[in-house]
Parts: sequence; C-alpha cells; structure tokens
Amino acid sequence: MPSFALTVETVFGDGCIAELGQRAKAKGYKHALIVTDPGIKAAGILDSIMASLDEQGVAHSVYDNVTPNPTVAEVDGGAKAMNDGDADFVIGVGGGSAIDAAKGIAVFSAMGGESSKTYLFGAGTVPFPNQMKPLFAVPTTCGTGSEISPAAVITDPDTHYKHLMLNCTPHIAFLDPNLVAKMPPPITAATGMDALTHAIEAYVNPGNTPFTRMFATRAIQQISSNLRQAVNGPDRPSALRNMLYAADIAGQSMSQGLGQVHGLSHVVSGRLGTPHGVANAILLSQVMEFHNDFLSPQLSEIAPLMGINAHGMDAKKAAKEVVTQIRALRDEIKIPSKLSDPSVGMSESDVAQFVEDAQKSQGVFIAAPRAASAEDLAAIYKSAL
Ligand SMILES: NC(=O)c1ccc[n+]([C@@H]2O[C@H](COP(=O)([O-])OP(=O)(O)OC[C@H]3O[C@@H](n4cnc5c(N)ncnc54)[C@H](O)[C@@H]3O)[C@@H](O)[C@H]2O)c1
Ligand SMILES: [Fe+2]
Repeated sequence: MPSFALTVETVFGDGCIAELGQRAKAKGYKHALIVTDPGIKAAGILDSIMASLDEQGVAHSVYDNVTPNPTVAEVDGGAKAMNDGDADFVIGVGGGSAIDAAKGIAVFSAMGGESSKTYLFGAGTVPFPNQMKPLFAVPTTCGTGSEISPAAVITDPDTHYKHLMLNCTPHIAFLDPNLVAKMPPPITAATGMDALTHAIEAYVNPGNTPFTRMFATRAIQQISSNLRQAVNGPDRPSALRNMLYAADIAGQSMSQGLGQVHGLSHVVSGRLGTPHGVANAILLSQVMEFHNDFLSPQLSEIAPLMGINAHGMDAKKAAKEVVTQIRALRDEIKIPSKLSDPSVGMSESDVAQFVEDAQKSQGVFIAAPRAASAEDLAAIYKSAL
C-alpha cells in the first residue's frame, strides 16, 4: 500500500540560516564539510553559513568541486575529503547539483571509501543501505526539491547515464529566501520550470495519492502565479520567496515518482550537459501533448490551477489549454522552445541513441501515466526538435 511521511525537519523564513550553527551544535556536531559549487561560493552565499557556524564554534571546510549534473568523481572526491579530514557532518549548499553531490558524499563517506561508480553503476540492482553521515540541505535555487527528497541524481560521464540513488534524505532543510534573492533570472526560470514539472508529473501520476495531489495542487498554483514575477517582475523578492517554498512543496508531491518528462530529459542533460530545468521545460508540453487524449480528465483539473478560465470547456479542450499555457510560460521566461536550439544542440541523428538511453531509465518511467514504446519516445523527441 502507498504510504506518506514528511520526513525532513524544515526550517524556513528570511534569515533562518542564522540558526544553522546553533542546530549543528545542539546535535553535537563539531566540523562541517560544506559541499557546494564555484558559482555559489562566488555569489557570497557561504558567508552567512560560515558566520553562523563560527558563532557556535563549529569548524568547517569547503568542498566546491561540484558541477551541474554532478558526477561520480565529484562524489568520490568529496567522500575522500570527508574521510581525510575531521568533518563529522555535511552541509549541501546550492541547487540540486550541490545538494545531490552532498547526499552522495554523506552516503559514500559513511561506506568507508566505496567507489560510487562501482556501487551505483556496477551491479545496478544492489539495494542501497540507508546509512549516511548527518546531512543539512540548503537550497539556493527554487526547483529540485532535493532538500527534502530521498533521491540524488549522479551522472557517469563515461556512459552519460544519470543514476537515481535512493535512501539519502537530508536530516534538516533550511529554506532561507535571502539565499535566493540574487539568483540570475535564467536560473530562476529553468529551476522554476523543473518545480512545475515535478508538480504536474506528480499530479498525473497514476500512483498519486490524496497527499501527493494536495502538494501538487498547491505547488502548481503557487508556481503559476509567481514564476513570471520571480524571473523579471517588479516584486521579485516576494515572488522568489514564494517560489522557494513552492519548489519545496512540489518536492513533497513527487514521493510516488515522476514520469517520461524526467526520463527523457535526464538523457538530454546526461548527453549534452543541458541544465535539468531547461530540458524539462522543453519536454513538459510535448509529453503532456502526447498523453493528451488519455490524460485529459487529469490535465483539465490542472487548468484552473494555472489560471485558465476553463468554464464551459470540455476536458479535452481544457487539457489543450494547459499545454498551451505551459508553452506560453516557458516562452515568456525566455527558455528555448526546441531541443535543436543551439544552446541545447540535439539533432535528429541523436534520437535513436537517446531513446535507447531513456529506455534504461525504467526507475524514472515507472510512474508514467501510460507506457510508451521506443517509437513513442522517438516521436516525442522529434516533436521537441
Ligand atoms: N534529488 C532530486 O530529487 C532532484 C530533483 C530534480 C533535479 N535534480 C538534479 O538537480 C540538478 C539540477 O539542479 P538545479 O537545477 O537546482 O541547478 P544547479 O544546482 O545545477 O545549479 C545551476 C547553476 O546555478 C548556480 N546557482 C545556484 N543558485 C544560485 C544563486 N542563488 N545565485 C547565483 N547562482 C546560483 C550554480 O552555481 C550553478 O552554476 C540536476 O543534476 C538534476 O538531475 C535532483
Ligand atoms: Fe526535476
């Protein structure tokens, strides 16, 4: 039977990051490994975190080698830094990439130097032990929900495969709107569309529950009414705050899994390095259009949540309007509309390989609204070119 649990203590509010040091000290932690990427460090986002740790006499070191779509080598490097130093807990600070890498580091450092590549990409079916060093997660984008999710996505650059690693839920999440206040608009746009994709894929997931739908409903409403403002509106700070919370709420909605948007976009990012939210934003309308006939009852329920006046429309028409609205939002916030856009770089000759890769992602596809054959997946990719 399905089950539902809110497992992560979540501290939120403007300036809440100042409590991090106190909370670490209260748990008896002595030395943090702060896992992040160079962009976060350059943006000065670590300053308030380090000040809070200093105030409580908690030592800290920084591992900032994480890249977007983090790799097994980055996880192994962080686990080694953890085990070679004195750190006894991990703080993941950044978008999904830094937080996912921090999850991998918290797990593999506890496993005593096991190579994440051998473990994740070797036997493939080895059950993952639920053991990890204590982990705090501090999101600086409004998108992935990684701060409360049990999953991390780690890429093997040799095969370009993005592996879903489970059982690595953080212990405390800190949602501080001050940390997203200076997020560049293109990152706000892409990560916001990732959050919308989580909520919509969760809503139409055949395994959804009253609990996941409750979170998905709220997230779709809150993202639809704040994302444009958060990207470039006059009331950016308050819209960004709403987006930070909405992305977390969307993360709560995806506990029953996601679908073909993520299955197909992981391949695009794994092969071409495309930001996760950009690949999702392009594929979301195409996958929903593919499912339109079958999904129109569920998609039509989403219409009013996105601000569409669907009064008097039949379900099919309302569902079509949802697809149109997804495209309008994506265009307004200046995300490319095609996978063939030079910034993404996919071409027709990639389709067969990408479909083959996507079919290996059964763990992601499991929650798809209905099965898609190789021909179906190829048709979706081609429709997005
Ligand atoms: N674990 C999960 O449940 C889950 C869910 C969805 C996606 N993901 C994964 O998350 C990754 C994507 O994460 P993301 O979309 O949050 O982006 P990201 O973490 O890759 O960050 C993108 C860029 O934004 C910069 N950045 C982030 N916050 C900033 C800020 N406040 N100010 C200035 N620059 C900032 C970073 O330095 C980086 O260069 C992908 O690998 C994806 O597969 C994980
Ligand atoms: Fe995602």
